[in-house]
Amino acid sequence: MSDVTIPPSDSLAVLEKQRSTAETFGIPLAVLLEITHRCPLQCPYCSNPVELDRSAKELTTDEWKKVLSELAEIGVLQVHFSGGEPTARKDLVELVKHASDTGLYTNLITSAVLLTREKLSDLADAGLCHVQISFQGIEEGLADRVAGYKGGHRKKLEVAKWTRELDLPLTVNAVMHRQNLHQLPDIIQMALDLDADRLEVANVQYYGWALKNRAALMPTVAQLDECTRLVEEARERLKGRLTIDYVVPDYYALRPKKCMGGWGRQFFNISPAGRVLPCHAAESITGLDFLSVRSNHSIAWIWQNSEAFNRYRGTGWMKEPCKSCEFREIDFGGCRCQAFALTGDAANTDPACALSPLHETIFKQAEAEAEGETSRFLYRNFAGGTLEPENDA
Ligand code: SF4
Ligand code: FES
Repeated sequence: MSDVTIPPSDSLAVLEKQRSTAETFGIPLAVLLEITHRCPLQCPYCSNPVELDRSAKELTTDEWKKVLSELAEIGVLQVHFSGGEPTARKDLVELVKHASDTGLYTNLITSAVLLTREKLSDLADAGLCHVQISFQGIEEGLADRVAGYKGGHRKKLEVAKWTRELDLPLTVNAVMHRQNLHQLPDIIQMALDLDADRLEVANVQYYGWALKNRAALMPTVAQLDECTRLVEEARERLKGRLTIDYVVPDYYALRPKKCMGGWGRQFFNISPAGRVLPCHAAESITGLDFLSVRSNHSIAWIWQNSEAFNRYRGTGWMKEPCKSCEFREIDFGGCRCQAFALTGDAANTDPACALSPLHETIFKQAEAEAEGETSRFLYRNFAGGTLEPENDA
């Protein structure tokens, strides 16, 4: 779904550590399955592509089951059922059951608003291992406004409670931006009150829908510094009680993030229509042909051999300044989707890097937007977005 930061289970984290560098190009241990782009929420920072897959294109139940079996066979250990909103698919329980029967660890990444207690209980009985619920804020007014969905916040709180009653581990995912960063201390407390194991404080990453909404979402440098301070303080204070993952917006960094662990190195996801992608935003890059599980190729073949996965793998594709940079094997030139969105060429250095010739221009633009007046959202939907009514912003 919209808020993709993927928590490895503790057991997987141990396996990740054991994996040697030489094996980095092996099949990833965890795969993100975006089983639908349908979603009742309209978050303005959704990580789905602006051009969404309609339901008629979605893989069928049998096709998803075949994908799950194939993933288990090639060594994947964990799948994240995501979207869109994965509970919008009527066959979710059947898919979770199939994944569980093939030995896969299953995580549900959900907005929670479509769940009933009975449905959640059915998912638990089917073998669901973990639930991640996204929150848009701490109080109903703002949270429901960000999601573009009335009553959503209250329902999320209820589902979080059921999750723990059913003894399922819970991750709270909080996507942060200029309009809700002031609520961070209360969000941390909310995660504690909900008895979550993990909290993800994920600052918005600016591509796709979020790039369209950048002027309404970009935090100021001061807000971001305060956010970092609060996270560090809470991590120390809550050691052993709550794990806090932290994702910063790289606009204000000097070096970019190692996006996806490097293109085609540690991660792939499968879109609702079955395309195997090096990252959830990859389809925003034009000129790449992403193969589908409906093609004649196996998933393992697509991962290892397809042109799209190999185009930006490693360092051979790099231009200057990345080409001769000492950090090229550390961050792999940052984010290809961000480089494409901001420069028009995915092979350029991610402008989040201070060595990119565009870094200063983009940083200044972002700083100006952060100090600006824009607060209206362009809501995510199948029609290419709807501007929030002026009176609601
Ligand atoms: Fe990373 Fe490229 Fe910047 Fe070097 S120039 S720090 S490799 S993005
Ligand atoms: Fe696609 Fe960074 S989001 S490579």
